[in-house]
Amino acid sequence: MPKKNDAGAEAVESERASESQIAVHWREEDYFFPSAKFIGQANVSDPSILERFSESKFPECFKEYADLLSWDEYWHTTLDTSNAPFWKWFVGGRLNASYNCVDRHLATDRNKAAIIFVPEPEDADTEVITYQELYVRVNEFAALLRDFCGLQTGDVATFHMPMVPDLPVAMLACARLGVVHSQVFGGFSGAACGGRIADSKSKILVTIDGYYRNGELQDHKVKADEAIARALEEGVVVDKVLVFRRNPGEYASKSPMVPGRDFFVDEILPDYKRKLVDPVSMPAEAPLFIMYSSGTTGKPKGCQHSTGGYLAYVAGTSKYYQDIHPEDTYWCAADIGWITGHSYIVYGPLALGTTTVMYEGVPTYPDAGRCWRIAERLGVTTFHTAPTTIRTLRKVGPDEPAKYNYHFKHMTTVGEPIEPEVWRWYYDVVGKGEAVIVDTWWQTENGGFLGTGIPALNPMKPGSCGPAALGIFPEILDEDGEVVTAGSGIAGNICIRNPWPGIFQTIWGDPDRFVKTYYEKYNHKKGSTDWRDWPYFANDGAMQAEDGYYRILGRVDDVINVSGHRLGTKELESAALMVDEVAEAAAVPVVDDVRGHAVEMYISVKPGVEPSQEVADKVSRMIETEIGKVARPKNVWIVTDMPKTRSGKIMRRVIASISNFTDVGDITTLANPDVVEDVLHHVQSEKLARGELPRELSPAELQTIKNFGSSE
Ligand code: WT7
Repeated sequence: MPKKNDAGAEAVESERASESQIAVHWREEDYFFPSAKFIGQANVSDPSILERFSESKFPECFKEYADLLSWDEYWHTTLDTSNAPFWKWFVGGRLNASYNCVDRHLATDRNKAAIIFVPEPEDADTEVITYQELYVRVNEFAALLRDFCGLQTGDVATFHMPMVPDLPVAMLACARLGVVHSQVFGGFSGAACGGRIADSKSKILVTIDGYYRNGELQDHKVKADEAIARALEEGVVVDKVLVFRRNPGEYASKSPMVPGRDFFVDEILPDYKRKLVDPVSMPAEAPLFIMYSSGTTGKPKGCQHSTGGYLAYVAGTSKYYQDIHPEDTYWCAADIGWITGHSYIVYGPLALGTTTVMYEGVPTYPDAGRCWRIAERLGVTTFHTAPTTIRTLRKVGPDEPAKYNYHFKHMTTVGEPIEPEVWRWYYDVVGKGEAVIVDTWWQTENGGFLGTGIPALNPMKPGSCGPAALGIFPEILDEDGEVVTAGSGIAGNICIRNPWPGIFQTIWGDPDRFVKTYYEKYNHKKGSTDWRDWPYFANDGAMQAEDGYYRILGRVDDVINVSGHRLGTKELESAALMVDEVAEAAAVPVVDDVRGHAVEMYISVKPGVEPSQEVADKVSRMIETEIGKVARPKNVWIVTDMPKTRSGKIMRRVIASISNFTDVGDITTLANPDVVEDVLHHVQSEKLARGELPRELSPAELQTIKNFGSSE
């Protein structure tokens, strides 16, 4: 790590001072304790587990997770570090993920509900898929993928599916064949899907004609046409598109079926009725799936997850942190299009043989009581969602939960920092004071939880994700790679000192970027095969309180977390620049009471172009087309010039401060400090006129704004 020059050291000093100030202003929250009833039934309540997973037991401790699975061949090496930081877990082992999630439960639980699907229309029937039924469906679809699509072990198939049971069926069918699935969030645009098809070079796209969202049957198949056109522009030809139909016999899309390319699944599937496909015994290290996520540069990263390590990690964490018992009714209200859904709707719960609930639609449709009616009707015991949903439900229906007779024993929050106020509503009102809450910090790259507590052993503290998960050893490092004193409350970059089984294997097709993004910054010794030399850099800011609990402060890179969805600034800006009139574009986060953060775009127009609402609208639409509705900016500001450094870089930190009414900081080094005043006046007076009033920011929010753009 090169040492900073004096001026740099000074900058770090002043930064430290302000970071510790943040810590000082951070009110310590009181603990909440699990009930005796919860502890009495918990999967883990004996503190000896902490010893079993202590650092001296690493990496063998993870045998305990791997032993939750059924292996065709047991492994000989728990962790192979010979090609660090490309870790290999459970080397020599062979298993099949589909077998582990389906077949092995048949002997005892054939007719138990594996998946309960709740359609969005409330008058539609709930669909119960037993383990036996899941087995039949997975086998038939696997036969179709193999024999009709020609997919072979090691190929990639892209899915662009909403929350319908065909999605987990298709995932498990791929897993059965050793085909790598790459599910793209259904809410993403056709263009975004096409880019991911091209990057993974998939020949097969699995999609659906439509799905229900907010009371409407969405036309989804049109996105497949856009996706295929985009993939073609990038040189990848899709051979076949498999189209499920949301309502059998009806077609919800206006998009024509292309002969020879597009096929209705319900028309071909009868040819594969009663077909069985032997699960392919895969090496533990074989990739199970790819999940794309945003980072600092424009191109999304295909996070490649393994079969053995990943499945062991999600099974273990589902058991110990989600406290899943086979007899539970577990509802994770995330979308399977995100990693949370892969790990904690599909693979973790099904590996443990429990009942997992899938809800198709919007949590507030048709009203704010919907989730609680689902919970009551199905007898949900365990509930899992994100702060953005909790904020929405609190806003639109603060008294709704009390009207329904459901009882959770366990609840999860994931995806972004949760405000203590919101946490308390979740605990008191949603959980009725009876349910424990686990706050789980992790990322698409991680496979499963990194920062969280064991619910029966670690008391809860609102706003903190708790200590680290078992076998995870974090440290907070400063910019120079010095360790920030543990428990000091001083903020820095949170890193994980050791590998763990759920860690992604690489970025699909880009191993250099994998090393560069996550390991280069803090690597102690190039070429080392000792894991201790390779701390994992999570790209999140965090602080550790005296009691060892971590508080996550948000991204330190140029990623905007909107409702728990990661959006890269470069992706947003590239989309804006596709509008002809736009000369320059900058994306920044603005705090939002429901979504955590929202996107604001700043653009300047080309010479000769009149700034107009029309141009601003074009930018919004382009972002929606290129990325999806989640990325739609809250405001698009057209400015005459952007604050820039002398080398011409746009100062996103300054713009972000303007959008959030926070102190713009030192601007004396800018090439054009005068424009700051102009932009500030223009934007803030317009915001006030629109009723977007400033409010005091939490320490985590302040941190995000203050550091925004500093990773460039
Ligand atoms: C980023 C990862 C894997 C979960 C879904 C999001 C933020 C995630 C928490 C939490 C505070 C959190 C981080 C992280 N984040 N969970 N409990 N508390 N922040 O996965 O899209 O890969 O986003 O979400 O900033 O880096 P993702």
